[in-house]
Amino acid sequence: MTTPTIKAVIPAAGLGTRFLPATKAMPKEMLPVVDKPAIQYVVEEAVGAGIDDILVIIGRNKNALANHFDRVTELEHTLEQKGDHGKLARVNETSALADIHFVRQGDPKGLGHAVLRARRHVGKETFAVMLGDDLIDARDPLLSRMIDVSLSRSATVVALMEVDPSQIHLYGCADIEPTDEADVVTIKGLVEKPSASEAPSNLAIIGRYVLKPEIFDVLEQTPPGKGGEIQLTDALEELAGDSEIAGPVLGVVFTGRRYDTGDRLDYLKSSIQLALDRDDLGPQLGDWIKQLAPML
Ligand code: UTP
Repeated sequence: MTTPTIKAVIPAAGLGTRFLPATKAMPKEMLPVVDKPAIQYVVEEAVGAGIDDILVIIGRNKNALANHFDRVTELEHTLEQKGDHGKLARVNETSALADIHFVRQGDPKGLGHAVLRARRHVGKETFAVMLGDDLIDARDPLLSRMIDVSLSRSATVVALMEVDPSQIHLYGCADIEPTDEADVVTIKGLVEKPSASEAPSNLAIIGRYVLKPEIFDVLEQTPPGKGGEIQLTDALEELAGDSEIAGPVLGVVFTGRRYDTGDRLDYLKSSIQLALDRDDLGPQLGDWIKQLAPML
């Protein structure tokens, strides 16, 4: 069992251009998946892994995110007066989840740059990075396994998932070799968004990382890479190439359920899948899908 003392960092300062115009005035991490914003699932996942200190990296549309995790006294008061205790509990649960802090990224210069903004808050400890638009099903725990692997092997750990070769150009891709544990691999190198022919494997980096504080010095020196952004993958590639810096870089291969809510089609699938799994919505939604399917 893990007893993590680690903090989590949730970068949520990207422009979310794939979701325009919905993300013009709202971060994509606030898009609702059934009835909760995507980021709330991620915060709940962190809390489920024993983490109670979370830093959210926010961008230009900071208010919606900060307000969501704050108390809303008028709403609480109205629900209290109406005696609607169910809804009141749902409103309050977001502000009581964990100790949530916010820091501005300023210009969105890439995921690596966003992570660097966490340096002061994280200090000299191992920490988790969880992408706010990437959901891992609560029934398939991943983060606690990654923390165990990181602490027991003093390693940087990234989450990997097998993807179809036609999709690898959307991800960071890992060049790996096996270890003595079936779900753990050693990462020899990483390539950001390779073409299918350049990809060293079909193992893609998904949005969970357990990083050691040495990553900050590496990120400070990392020049802008693909898309002119400071890429976390490039800093990890540097660590993977020199284990003297911070020990090995390992991958935990995830085979559970993951929902990428930053992509429009995956967002729709995620919403439907998670609603189908719910007792209050699933049966009726399932019936409607069955009626609709023969007409497609
Ligand atoms: P993405 O590349 O998926 O986010 O970044 P994006 O740039 O917002 O998306 P599109 O492609 O324009 O639709 C992965 C994660 O890193 C965060 C994003 O918010 C997302 O959670 N991010 C990205 C930052 O916090 N800052 C950045 O400068 C870039």
